[in-house]
Amino acid sequence: MVLAAAERGVRAVFVPEPQADEAAMVPDMSVIGVRSLAQVVAVLRGEEVPDADPVAPLSGARLLAWRGQERLEELDLADLLGVDDARYAVEVAAAGGHHLLLSGPKGSGKTSLAERIPGILPDLSPDESLELSAICSLAGTLDPAAGMLTRPPFSAPHHDASKASIIGGGSGAVQPGEVSRAHAGVLFLDEFPLFRSDVIEALRQPLESGDVTVARRDESVTLPARGMVVLACNPCPCGDFSGDVRLNTCTCREVQRRDYRNKVTGPVADRVDIVRHLPPLRKRDAVADLERAETSAEVGRRVAAARTRQAERYAGESWRLNGHAPGPVLRERWPLTKAGQAAVDELLYDGGLSRRGATRVHRLSWTVADLRRLDRPGLDEVETALRLRVGEPLLLRMLERVS
Ligand SMILES: Nc1ncnc2c1ncn2[C@@H]1O[C@H](COP(=O)(O)OP(=O)(O)OP(=O)(O)O)[C@@H](O)[C@H]1O
Ligand SMILES: [Mg+2]
Repeated sequence: MVLAAAERGVRAVFVPEPQADEAAMVPDMSVIGVRSLAQVVAVLRGEEVPDADPVAPLSGARLLAWRGQERLEELDLADLLGVDDARYAVEVAAAGGHHLLLSGPKGSGKTSLAERIPGILPDLSPDESLELSAICSLAGTLDPAAGMLTRPPFSAPHHDASKASIIGGGSGAVQPGEVSRAHAGVLFLDEFPLFRSDVIEALRQPLESGDVTVARRDESVTLPARGMVVLACNPCPCGDFSGDVRLNTCTCREVQRRDYRNKVTGPVADRVDIVRHLPPLRKRDAVADLERAETSAEVGRRVAAARTRQAERYAGESWRLNGHAPGPVLRERWPLTKAGQAAVDELLYDGGLSRRGATRVHRLSWTVADLRRLDRPGLDEVETALRLRVGEPLLLRMLERVS
């Protein structure tokens, strides 16, 4: 509420005394903490402020800071060997704020990769920090003593979680869901096909628009929910299915496998920008120690540089990253090169790409170009983006990095 007041030009607010520290996080706001309405009246009239009993602070139990966040910051991409293709996909996703689907058999590194994404993201911008702090304040998880949040959040709800806990809701005051608490960070949905159908359905809005509308009895509230969504899934419910008959030890029935796959190819998957299939771990054991894997710090520097390019290009716009840029505006003001656009058009006419798909490829092409420090995405960037989008392996030349 203080944030909203500041946006409307209000420069001073009265709040209950226990919330004064939290309200004071809003820049350029003078905050007066009070214990009673009589105190408010006295301050406004310039009279002597009467004494009053202290206001009980919110129960400390609501301040459930998640300690797991620190553990995640220590995980490093250098621990993962091989998986060059997926590492590149993660770098692109982080640089442009694109949604990502990782599929692969048990133990192929899906969870390990997803947990390392926050570590390659730069610190939150001042705007993001305020928005996220406001969401956490609403959720009752903001600790004013710890100050403003500066690192991107990581939220990984279990697949049994209710729609209210993931999307938002509740019976009293609106509780932001995990999609909002992952704002400006990462929302990781591991074993995505096992999530409840109503949750999967409701994820379409945040995936598409970066906000979420929580409807309650007689009102609806729209909250920001602009995090990167990372989905992980196995090839089948038991996780052991392999297209290679020599490796296949799957025990699922065909119908189970089909139901599982249908969830992955539904409307939510259509809103995902990047699809990566991870090979089983054993296949790459032999090459694993030939090359030194890059650290999160090295990858993070390129991600930050690519984000700086985007911030400069989109200065004054309402979005910051390629992944959030509106399609029509991109086509009009930030087009692909002729050759690049021709490649997209060809697929559109063939039916190989939907309109929504074409917009996502356009955004992705920009992120690939930003990582390569190019002024405009050309045919190479579009081809890389197309492969990322449809889950085809990248060619070696596409993995080369500009440092
Ligand atoms: N590329 C890799 N290099 C080194 N270790 C790896 C790699 N991929 C996975 N591992 C290790 O294998 C183990 C399993 O990985 P992880 O949990 O990420 O797999 P998963 O794909 O999420 O599997 P599941 O489907 O069972 O959830 C972890 O201990 C991880 O450290
Ligand atoms: Mg896993």
